[in-house]
Amino acid sequence: MALIHLIYVSAASREYSDAELDDMLASSIRHNTPQGITGMLLYAGGNFIQVLEGEAAAVDETYDRITRDPRHHGLILIERSAIQEREFPQWQMGFRRLSQADIAAGPAFFPLLKNAFDTTANTITPGIARELLAQFVLQSA
Ligand SMILES: Cc1cc2nc3c(=O)[nH]c(=O)nc-3n(C[C@H](O)[C@H](O)[C@H](O)COP(=O)(O)O)c2cc1C
Repeated sequence: MALIHLIYVSAASREYSDAELDDMLASSIRHNTPQGITGMLLYAGGNFIQVLEGEAAAVDETYDRITRDPRHHGLILIERSAIQEREFPQWQMGFRRLSQADIAAGPAFFPLLKNAFDTTANTITPGIARELLAQFVLQSA
């Protein structure tokens, strides 16, 4: 029973409405709940960043499905590693859509995101990704 987490960034294939994002999230939660997957999804400036956590087989199967989803492309796997415990146990998938204002008003590391969310630049580090995702658990609590 090995717990892992997996973090990736991707580029949205187009702009999504709130309703479309809600549908995406509802379907994710429907799949994640029986699979024991938890995590956090952020959508900002046309990019996604997501952390999935759970049993390795369940996380890998879910990520494999996500990579084949035409709603995004250019996925970059930032980290896949063993964890002792979940960082997002309360979220079958937490979600935040970040506006430019959120980013402007956000924590000091947000300037890094100008590059981090440029999926061609591949400058995001696991530490920054984790810090960013964890920040939104605090804000959503
Ligand atoms: C950015 C993004 C994040 C997603 N996250 C998840 C997820 O956490 N879990 C999941 O099962 N599907 C997730 N999906 C959806 C899958 O790619 C896939 O569409 C879905 O699991 C298929 O289920 P459905 O046919 O019941 O809608 C995500 C898709 C995108 C574009």
